[in-house]
Amino acid sequence: MTGFETLAIHAGQEPDPLTGAVVPPIHQASTYKQDGIGGTRGGYEYSRTANPTRTALEECLAALEGGTSAFAFASGMAAEDCLLRVACRPGDRVLIPTDAYGGTYRLFAKVLAAWGITHEPVPIDDVTAVEARLAAAPAKIVWAETPTNPLLNVTDIRALAELAHHHGALLVVDNTFASPYLQRPLELGADAVVHSTTKYLGGHSDVVGGAVITSSPELAEGLAFTRNATGAVPGPFDSWLTLRGIKTLAVRMDRHCANAQLIAEMLATHPAVTRVHYPGLPSHPSHEIAKAQMRGFGGMVSFQVRDGRRHAVDLCARARLFTLGESLGGVESLIEHPARMTHASTAGSPLEVPDDLVRLSVGIEDAADLIADLEQAIGV
Ligand SMILES: Cc1ncc(COP(=O)(O)O)c(C=O)c1O
Repeated sequence: MTGFETLAIHAGQEPDPLTGAVVPPIHQASTYKQDGIGGTRGGYEYSRTANPTRTALEECLAALEGGTSAFAFASGMAAEDCLLRVACRPGDRVLIPTDAYGGTYRLFAKVLAAWGITHEPVPIDDVTAVEARLAAAPAKIVWAETPTNPLLNVTDIRALAELAHHHGALLVVDNTFASPYLQRPLELGADAVVHSTTKYLGGHSDVVGGAVITSSPELAEGLAFTRNATGAVPGPFDSWLTLRGIKTLAVRMDRHCANAQLIAEMLATHPAVTRVHYPGLPSHPSHEIAKAQMRGFGGMVSFQVRDGRRHAVDLCARARLFTLGESLGGVESLIEHPARMTHASTAGSPLEVPDDLVRLSVGIEDAADLIADLEQAIGV
């Protein structure tokens, strides 16, 4: 098997046959000359259906996740929406994590509900709880995020896949937080992986995108059809930026993990911090599962503070090197207050997040600088 780092740099990216350019060209074209009607060169006829720069990205994503097909989208939410339209029909039920990404919850609660797709929040890292819900009523999909956003809960993917399949459900894993470098859900039995490529795959906070990767021919056929029919494709330049980001994914993730571990350890001993959520800490309830199914514990850390919401909000404002902002996975460190920002849409729902919680996307800056900034922001 070719190594991950090699695939990240070369999969789907043979030097351009015309010029030898070592980086895939940005094929900024909407349409393609046909050599007689139906006589396409390489199957390209219109860029909503297929574009060579996007194909390069998709071949790379499929290789990195170990799937047979990948589909790139204009955003992570577009990827989720398309997959759910392919897999579900009115009347179908989906189990979602009690701490799913707020946008995923909003898609189910405010968009898909109107089309007859029901959702039920379940603590997805608790296999016994999931089993009880599957035994109570059939579900079309078990939707997992691992680690979850923002509480960093970790699910045993292999156990969940066996359970879902036993009950006739598909397992979908949102692998945004881990990236394929740290975790490959398809190899553990998942039927499809979704990504916000906006995050670690792109890696530089300069492009929004999404992807679905699968080895199921039925899902792949449905995704190809529905994405073309509904049209939420990324443009060639966005595909190219994502592909460029992926080339350094492995080295970036190693540094994200190392910095996050140091920060989590500092927070765990800080007197003003009541709880640290990071799977790399031995005190994390799923530390052992995370160790077994992930190559590293990732760059996301969240923590709760002794003095509650006011302190959480104030410390976010005091941070200087950590930039106050939504999103995650870029080389620069970000800080945010999930209850008021990324997860505001969960207010009043079973997915509501604690208001004393602060979320960090730990970047790849000097760890000592990051720790000093957090210490001054938290105060005592
Ligand atoms: C875990 C997770 N899944 C999906 C999404 C949605 O992706 P996008 O913002 O690219 O639409 C996000 C965005 O923050 C996310 O954090």
